[in-house]
Amino acid sequence: MKIAIGSDHGGFHLKEAIRILAQELGHTVENVGCFSTEAVNYPDLAQLVCEKIQTGAAERGILICGTGLGMSMAANKYKFIRAALCHDHYTARMSREHNNANLLCMGERVVGIGVAEDIVRVWLSSEFSGGRHQTRIALFSQC
Ligand code: RB5
Repeated sequence: MKIAIGSDHGGFHLKEAIRILAQELGHTVENVGCFSTEAVNYPDLAQLVCEKIQTGAAERGILICGTGLGMSMAANKYKFIRAALCHDHYTARMSREHNNANLLCMGERVVGIGVAEDIVRVWLSSEFSGGRHQTRIALFSQC
């Protein structure tokens, strides 16, 4: 799968670890930055990843900041983006099965590396259930 990944300075270290994990899992990963812990503005990185998904350059995205909150708020402003802020294995799985999330957000200051890797593994391998969940997604997709 083609995955676009990005972070701000608050998520830089976790983003680098997750980038490597996703590659090891066999995915093609495009890293849009940031590329150091120098302070940047998270909406700029959210825009880069969202546009990769909107144009079809990436099937999924991963965005990481300090809390995951700013990234998820910014990303969900973009059409066709369903960003899920996940801090545990269960919400990661459900965000795929029920919400067909195409973008995963996490907070480096919230989750440890082990939990984050579990989240990514399950999020990348879980499938959308469709059916009644597709009906519900359609109900908010035109807002
Ligand atoms: C940066 O300090 C921090 O505000 C950012 O990474 C994120 O947590 C915002 O939601």
